[in-house]
Amino acid sequence: MCGIIGYISKEKGVSKKIIHNLKKLEYRGYDSSGICLLKGNTFLVKKSVGEISNLEKKLDFDDDFNCGIAHTRWATHGKVSLKNTHPHLSQDHCWAVVHNGIIENFLELSEFLKTQCVTLKSETDTETIVALMALLKGNDNIKKLNEVTTMLVGSFAICLLHKSEQVLYVARRHSPLYVAKNDTSCMVSSDPVTFGEDFETYYALPDDCIAKVTVDKIDVYDKDMNKVCVSASEVGSFEKSAELGKYSFYAEKEISEIPKVVDTILSNYKIVDHFKKINKTFFRQIKKVKLIGCGTAYHACLMGAKYIQDYAHIEAQGYIASEFRYSKPLIDKHTLCIFVSQSGETADTLLSLELAKSKGAKTLAVVNVPYSSIAQKADVVLPLCAGMEVAVMSTKAYNAMLLVLKLLATHLSKFSETPQNIDYTELKKVNYFKDVQKIDQITNLVLKSEKVFFIGRGEDYICALEAGLKLKEITYINCVSIPSGELKHGTLSLVDNKSLVFVIATDQNLLAKNISSASEIKARGGKIVLVTNLDDVQCKDIDYVYHFDKITPKLSSIISIIPFQVLAYKTCLKLGYSPDKPRNLAKSVTVE
Ligand code: F6R
Repeated sequence: MCGIIGYISKEKGVSKKIIHNLKKLEYRGYDSSGICLLKGNTFLVKKSVGEISNLEKKLDFDDDFNCGIAHTRWATHGKVSLKNTHPHLSQDHCWAVVHNGIIENFLELSEFLKTQCVTLKSETDTETIVALMALLKGNDNIKKLNEVTTMLVGSFAICLLHKSEQVLYVARRHSPLYVAKNDTSCMVSSDPVTFGEDFETYYALPDDCIAKVTVDKIDVYDKDMNKVCVSASEVGSFEKSAELGKYSFYAEKEISEIPKVVDTILSNYKIVDHFKKINKTFFRQIKKVKLIGCGTAYHACLMGAKYIQDYAHIEAQGYIASEFRYSKPLIDKHTLCIFVSQSGETADTLLSLELAKSKGAKTLAVVNVPYSSIAQKADVVLPLCAGMEVAVMSTKAYNAMLLVLKLLATHLSKFSETPQNIDYTELKKVNYFKDVQKIDQITNLVLKSEKVFFIGRGEDYICALEAGLKLKEITYINCVSIPSGELKHGTLSLVDNKSLVFVIATDQNLLAKNISSASEIKARGGKIVLVTNLDDVQCKDIDYVYHFDKITPKLSSIISIIPFQVLAYKTCLKLGYSPDKPRNLAKSVTVE
């Protein structure tokens, strides 16, 4: 979603620095971008709709700037247009602002501004911020910022410039914001991934704090204007792991990294033993487990709930975060709430975490981005160790979520009467991409069909859900995922000779039932692709069998999704779409 860069330097050349770093935020998704550069006492503002390269073309002047702010916008309030693109200026042209998040009381603030004879030019909630700043009297700009933030309801990360000062004024509530400093420059960013080249350390601005950033120092204040001391974090390998290398697309790179990610998790959890680091009492007296996430992470929650219930015999259930938040959940100190998120910033998941905490639950985060808000707020964190994920379509992070949740379930089983003993080294031997070249043929079947279905039972049904999400999000093909047993209860009426049905079968005990579902589909004219790692599947009704590599049934759910990740990617390429940046979607959904 939206991204912020602010840059201030003793050296000229800031506009190039800003654009270079703004491009590193492209992966988060955006529909327009803009920059405000300060020279003398005037702002130079340029905006464009679409790719950042469009904005870059408008910067055809000498780069003798020392200070500027910029933004990638993912439209929330107001359509995609130049008028609504950030930065926004105050009516008197003294203030410029870029903003991530949503100002919820924006209508009230607009009404108030009308009474002060301020007419807003855009349809955005953001413009109210600079309008309020401009209304306040006096010279102490950091105090003014403090005053304005008390008027704002909602979530925000903001970066402001005043035309007469080489200073970046920043503030945040719920939305993340970071500041880095070296000998010559300071940079403000909504994502530390941007700091890798020029900075060795950075500071996470604490929630509900504001800061005054000059080229020499960063002063942070809390709501009561007390100075706050913030400790620096190293720019680590995670922030530097976003290089595309030899690949054409991040989606391809990230799928190919799955075996490496599995290896990293197994060795990291062996060396660090994250479970030993957790206080012994934390897992005691847990009566139920709730796993909460969105999209792909929600599918990992469903799978994690199965693992925990099967291995540790504790009642466990997966929840969609946006539903969980409004469901009046029954939670107390004997409930373990697990929040699963690649980005660690998903608004609904974060707000669900706050709800669970307020009800006294034990909270555990399974997250990929180590410095994220969810990682910071949960009682305990289990890292995904997947390295940075750039493509909007989540792939390697999903496999990592499943493995970490399985390690957690195995650990929890130690407190039960049937401790599990799983040989995870099998994951080091399996061929993750066995026969993937054959998927090209299946891609052709998908492209010839009018309707696509994914069915399975148990863990394979969850795989069907995730397989459907992968295909629809990057190919825009409408598809349906349902449990095989539900076919007869409605969805079978959709099946005809233009339908393609993927039957996923990895459980020998359920194979016969899956085969009979296949026959029902065939009888209605549908084509069937069986995706399995079981031997000797005999069924005349199946049109195509794709075999992925054999592995112990306890571990097959970690790899059974891979053929579908590859299928989505290959189909997307054949259709000529971008696998990394699907339309309408953002990598990190930081608003509700
Ligand atoms: C799908 C996808 C989304 C995310 C969801 C949650 O490929 O990427 O469904 O899984 O938006 O995001 P995180 O895991 O960052 O909380």
